[in-house]
Amino acid sequence: MTDTIHIPVMLNEVINYLDIKENDCLIEGTAGFGGHTYHILNQLGRNGLYIGLDQDQTAINHCKNKFKSSAISHHYHDNFSNFDRYLSQHNKTTFSKFFLDLGVSSYQLDQEYRGFSHRFEGPLDMRMNTKNDLTAQDVLNTYSKESLSNIFFHFGQLKHNKKLVETIIHLRKHSPLKTTTDLRNCIKKSYFFNNKRSLFMKTCSQVFQAIRIEVNQEFNHIQTILPKLEHYAENNAIIIILTFHSSEDRLVKEYVKQSKTLIFEPKSVIKPSKEERTKNSRSRSVKCRVIKKITS
Ligand SMILES: C[S@@+](CC[C@H](N)C(=O)[O-])C[C@H]1O[C@@H](n2cnc3c(N)ncnc32)[C@H](O)[C@@H]1O
Repeated sequence: MTDTIHIPVMLNEVINYLDIKENDCLIEGTAGFGGHTYHILNQLGRNGLYIGLDQDQTAINHCKNKFKSSAISHHYHDNFSNFDRYLSQHNKTTFSKFFLDLGVSSYQLDQEYRGFSHRFEGPLDMRMNTKNDLTAQDVLNTYSKESLSNIFFHFGQLKHNKKLVETIIHLRKHSPLKTTTDLRNCIKKSYFFNNKRSLFMKTCSQVFQAIRIEVNQEFNHIQTILPKLEHYAENNAIIIILTFHSSEDRLVKEYVKQSKTLIFEPKSVIKPSKEERTKNSRSRSVKCRVIKKITS
C-alpha cells in the first residue's frame, strides 16, 4: 500500500488553521490513510498527545503501522463520536485541537469488493466499519418506498426519485438487488439520460452517495459528535471540519450558530485553491470550517 492511495485535501489550510503547539492534545476523528496525520505529528512535541480514530479497520491498521515510531501517537478502530472514551483513557478531560475530514476515502472508493463505487462491479456493501450489520443490500431490499425516497432526496439531492424508487421496489420483488451493477441498471431504467454519459455518472454518484450515507449513518454521527466537541473542547480549542456535502455543512453551521461557546473564526467557509481543485478533483466540493471554543 503506497501513500498515494488518498491525497489529503486542503492540507496547507488545515495545518495553518490548526496552529499546532508542541504540547497540544489533538484528536483526528477520521485518520484515513494518515495524509494529514504525518504533517500534524511533525508539529507536535514530545509532551503532545495525538489520538487518531477511524471506523475502517484497513485504514487504522495502515496508520498504526505508518506511525509506529511516534511515541505520542495512538490509533484506535472506532467511530469518531466515541472520542471521549479515548480522552479519558489517556487521563485527559479536554482536547485543544480536533480535526475531521468527513466522508469516504479514495482508497475505500477504489476497493471494488466494498461496493462504494458505481465505477466497479462489486457487492452492495458500503460499510466503512465491516463490524456493523446494515449493508447497502439491506437498505435497498428492505426499506419502504417512503424511506428510500427520503434517502435519495435528503442524502443524494435527487428531487426526482419516484421512478427510481418504483424500479427498485419492482425489481426486488423478483430478485433482491445484490451488486453495484444491479443498482446501476435500476438507475439506467429510471432516468432518461439522452446519451449523456456525464449526466448518468452524476446521477450514479448521487444515488451511491445517498445509500452510503444511510448505511454508515453519517449524519447521525455528526449530530452526535457536535455537542460532545463543544463539551470536551478546552477554552480556545480549535476544531476543523472538512465537509463534502451541503447538508453535512448545514448541520455544522446550524449547530455552531445556536451555540453560546463556539464561533467560526474566520467567519466564512474556506474553499480550496483553484490549483488544488484542478489537481485533485475530490477537493472540488470540500468546505472547510474552522471553529473556536470561546468560553469554558
Ligand atoms: C476522507 S477520509 C480521511 C482521509 C485522511 N484525512 C487522509 O488524508 O488520509 C475519511 C475517513 O473517515 C472515516 N470515517 C468516516 N466517518 C467516520 C466516523 N463516523 N467515525 C470514524 N471514522 C469515520 C472513513 O473510514 C475514512 O477513512
